[in-house]
Amino acid sequence: MKVSILSTVVAALSVLAPSVHALPSWPSYGKPEPRGNTNLARLALQAPKSTLPAPTGLQLKFVGLGIGTQNYTCQVGNDTAAPGTTGALAKLYDIGSRLNTDPMSQWKLNTISGLALSLSSHPKLLDGYLMMQGYQRVLGEHFFTQTTPTFSLYKVTPLPFPVAFVTKDDVMDAPKTACPGQDGLPAIQWVKLSDKDGRSQGGVNTVYRLETAGGNKPATCKGQKAHWEVPYAAQYWVYGPKS
Ligand SMILES: *[C@@H]1O[C@H](CO)[C@@H](O)[C@H](O)[C@H]1NC(C)=O
Ligand SMILES: *[C@@H]1O[C@H](CO)[C@@H](O)[C@H](O)[C@H]1NC(C)=O
Repeated sequence: MKVSILSTVVAALSVLAPSVHALPSWPSYGKPEPRGNTNLARLALQAPKSTLPAPTGLQLKFVGLGIGTQNYTCQVGNDTAAPGTTGALAKLYDIGSRLNTDPMSQWKLNTISGLALSLSSHPKLLDGYLMMQGYQRVLGEHFFTQTTPTFSLYKVTPLPFPVAFVTKDDVMDAPKTACPGQDGLPAIQWVKLSDKDGRSQGGVNTVYRLETAGGNKPATCKGQKAHWEVPYAAQYWVYGPKS
């Protein structure tokens, strides 16, 4: 499954390659521009449908494509124990700015994470895809501060840059159509996360993890190592008070 998706992508990229060099946006390669707040009102209307509580009264501020790993731990030899989640580390690319003005956005949204995950083991192809689509600008990173999921958009100007320290509000299983992981497990759940203890800053306080691909853990520790990482991609829809 994954191999066939990948070879299709590779074929598509090589067909497109000659025209890519003519694109005026190409010189931005290697120097992602910082991005200030832009109005994502059009894109907000196309937010992926889910059973998670709606972001009532909030404004969509950023949509980041997260590409990285989910980290898990296990008690080795205990076949009935459930794996623990120790963290995640992902780079967040700005897909929101471009999609907001892309007439094709509605048709692209649910394919981006699967493509990014398939390409993530081929960094040059991944970079080529991100640049062709205009998604190469980095907003920041997603990581854990001790046990707190954190979204640090440190490339965004002006200061103070947006940072969300969040806690899980609600979850749902990813749709059946979501791209599975290399391990064959279904995509990691969709989640609504919101501010923890009023610590978030820079106009953001709520993050939805949507359109996930890969990243999941098995139900039990049977046959697992003590620590491991699972590649994943997901869209992070970041909201805050209206500005
Ligand atoms: C194995 O994991 C289960 C479930 O977490 C736990 O109840 C049990 O005590 C563990 N067994 C050992 C030998 O640690
Ligand atoms: C998760 O894995 C990444 C990649 O190896 C690592 O850099 C990071 O420190 C890990 N994070 C946690 C919380 O274990």
